[in-house]
Formats: sequence, structure tokens, C-alpha cells
Amino acid sequence: SQKYCHIGSAMVSLVEPAPVLPVQPLLAALSGTETGSVFMGLRTRRLGTRGNSKYHYYGIRVKPDSPLNRLQEDTQYMAMRQQPVHQKQRFKPLQKVDGMSDSLCGSSQHCNSTPEQSVAAQSQHHQQYIDTSHTLPPFPTPDLGTMPLPERINMNDIKKLQTLYRDHCEATLDVVMNLQFHYIEKLWQTFWYSTPDDDMEGVIPREKLVALCKYEPIRLWMRSCDHILYQALVEILIPDVLRPVPSTLTQAIRNFAKSLEGWLTNAMTNFPQEIIRTKVAVVSAFAQTLRRYTSLNHLAQAARAVLQNTSQINQMLSDLNRVDFANVQEQASWVCQCDESVVQRLEQDFKVTLQQQSSLDQWATWLDNVVSQVLKPHQGSPSFPKAARQFLLKWSFYSSMVIRDLTLRSAASFGSFHLIRLLYDEYMFYLVEHRVAQATGETPIAVMGEFSDLTSMMPSLMEKGKTLILV
Ligand SMILES: *[C@@H]1O[C@H](CO)[C@@H](O)[C@H](O)[C@H]1NC(C)=O
Repeated sequence: SQKYCHIGSAMVSLVEPAPVLPVQPLLAALSGTETGSVFMGLRTRRLGTRGNSKYHYYGIRVKPDSPLNRLQEDTQYMAMRQQPVHQKQRFKPLQKVDGMSDSLCGSSQHCNSTPEQSVAAQSQHHQQYIDTSHTLPPFPTPDLGTMPLPERINMNDIKKLQTLYRDHCEATLDVVMNLQFHYIEKLWQTFWYSTPDDDMEGVIPREKLVALCKYEPIRLWMRSCDHILYQALVEILIPDVLRPVPSTLTQAIRNFAKSLEGWLTNAMTNFPQEIIRTKVAVVSAFAQTLRRYTSLNHLAQAARAVLQNTSQINQMLSDLNRVDFANVQEQASWVCQCDESVVQRLEQDFKVTLQQQSSLDQWATWLDNVVSQVLKPHQGSPSFPKAARQFLLKWSFYSSMVIRDLTLRSAASFGSFHLIRLLYDEYMFYLVEHRVAQATGETPIAVMGEFSDLTSMMPSLMEKGKTLILV
């Protein structure tokens, strides 16, 4: 006797390998309890607000070549979307995935898969590169101080908002962890649009939600929660900035980053400007971080090849030995006022590290040590963030002077140096951002939100799909 699983009101997520569903499932329904007893270890997660929720299952998936894939996609769209056709176009099918063509197209029928199947199979493949073990850290409680509560708002409303917002953030995290970026827009709309006016359990009437958002302690509290959420999302999506990932995943993350601000402002139309501004600032910092880290990752992959090539390293060494460092120091010292002995030591260290044909990871450690040494005197001082930013500027100024010298000499290794310089600048930025976060007890996302002038300083690489041309 065949068991069927009702998926009409459920989202079947594409997470872990699991039993294959039969083709007829929609004909016979099985209650949630029965589903759990048929598919052991199945977990559910609620999406959306209480009272307006969709459940989806963990640990269950449909075989990529099953005709159910179309059906299931349709079910998901019905459950989550109002305008399926319009929305669907946004998720472009990707024909080929780096390094996985064999596993996907080994048997020929897999190659004739539908776009939905490609996307599903690809998400699954991509999940090995993200950190799916991450959980959402606890949120703080709102600090109301002595601010009086807004009219017709009581402590129960605040408690309710805390619960609902936490649920909402957990749902956002789940969707991102499943690489179902296309659901985020709907999820946000569900939270911000669909709060009916009646005061049901688990629902905040729109009027009250607006009043709460206007209330300063709640606005600041929500910002802190968002910092925690988006920091977690960064760590999930890019757990190791230097680890190679498929370019299709990078592209998916970049497209996601590009859409975020629009999705949020659309979902929050008619909410007070202040709360929109606050939330958009955090989302922009998040998008910015994703762009920077994916650029960093892209540069790292390109640089690995250079750093492993003995003939290129030798060329770089011989070119670097011709650089007039005395002249560089003379010109830079007026601007940077760096200690000459420190600069000389860094120059020597750099050459030795290059000579040793260090791997990218060894270079990463070297850069980390440089940051530690330079910022050590400022440890524990309130001037730490400022000193850290000054260091970035100086580092960048010096490296541009060296590149300038190499350019004027038409150095054969110019291309390699250019790449290495972009990578090291970007990695320094990454390191410094984390040091500042550590020193101030904030998340790096919060640091970037606050010091937005810092972010406009760095080259925005790879914009609009630009790729690097290597020599
Ligand atoms: C190393 O670089 C040189 C010069 O760019 C290139 O001709 C050669 O093919 C590279 N070797 C390897 C093993 O990649």
C-alpha cells in the first residue's frame, strides 16, 4: 500500500537527500503527523507571521528528474506568490555549474531538465559551500529607558512584536539557508503588508505596528536585531572569504544583494520614513558586504593561480627589486607620516614572503599579522576605529605608489601585482572591519552601517559582471 504525502498547503524545501515522493501525491492527503511518521526525521518550519503562516518541511526533496518538480514549483508559487509568472522570470535558469557538469549531466536525461530542476539541483549543489549549521543568535530586548509608551500601546504589544519579529527573522534565515532567495520578497511582504486590522492572537494590527515602528526604542531595537540577522546571513552565505566557490553561487549571491533594497522598500510602503531609512541602511550594509566579500573571493581565486606559478613569482621578485622604495617612502611619508622603520620592515617582509612562494593562506596570515602589529598600540583605546581607518588609507596609498613605480617601468609582472594589490587591499579592509567590530563589540555589519564613508573608499570591483583581465 503506497503512502502519499499531502503537499498542497506545504512548501517542500530542497534541503537534504530524502525519500522520493510518488507522482500522485496530491490526490490523497496525509496529515502532518502521518507525514512525520512516514518520513522519519522530518522537521517543519513556519514561514510568515502567525495566523498567516505557511509550513515547509525540512529533509525532504523531490528527485531532480521527477515530473513532480513542476508540480511542486507550482505549489510553492501558489503558496508564496501572487504573481507567479512575473516573479518566475526573475529566477534565471543556469545552464551549467562549475565543476559539477559530470554529476548533473552524467546520465543524459538529467541534461534535459526543466529550469526549475536545474535551479533545484543547483541549490542543492551550492549548499555544500555555505554554512548550514549556523543558528540565529539571541536578540536583545528593547531598551525602553524612560520613554513613555505610545498611545494605545502596552507592554503586551511590545512582547508580541518581539516574538513575531524573531519568528520573521528566523524564517528569513531559513529561506536564505535553503538558497531560496526568490522567496524573500514575498516573506517580507507577508510580514509588513498582511497584518489585518483585527487583533488576533499572533497578529499585530497594522495601526499598532506603525505606532510601534514610530517609537524610537523599538526602531533602535529592530536595528540591533537586523544587525544580528544580517551578520548571520553573511556568515552563512560566505563562511570563508578565501575558499573557492562556484561562480554560479557568487552570481546568485550578487543578484540577491542587488534586489534587497528594492524588496524591502516595496514591502514597507506606507510605513514611517524613519523606520524605512533605518532598515534600508542595514540592508544596504548587508548588500555591500556581500558584494565586497564575493569580490574578495573572486580575486582570491584568481590570485591563487599567480601565487602558485614559479615563473610569475620570479618575475614579480625581479620587478619588485627594481622599485625605488626610497622614492616611494619620500613621497608617501609626507601624506602618511608613517614610521620609516615600520615601512622598511614591511617591505623586507613582503619580499621574503614572496620569495618563499607562500600560499594564499600564508599571505592571509601575513596580512593579519601586519594588522595586529600596526594596530597594537591602539588596542583598547577609543581611537581604535579611527586608527584602523587611517591604516587602511595608508596601506592603500603605499600600495598605489608601488604600483605607480611598476607602471612607469612597464614591469612585466604589472598584471600580477595589480591583482595582488586589489586582493590585499580588499582583504585588509575585511580584516580591519573585523578588528573594529571586535573592538567596539558590534557586528561587522553594524560597523559598516555606521562608518559608511569607509565603504565608499574601496574599489567596487566586478560591478555589472565585469571580470578581471589577467596578465
Ligand atoms: C605560469 O605563468 C606563465 C607566464 O604567465 C605561463 O606561460 C605558464 O603557462 C604558467 N604556468 C602554469 C603552470 O600555470
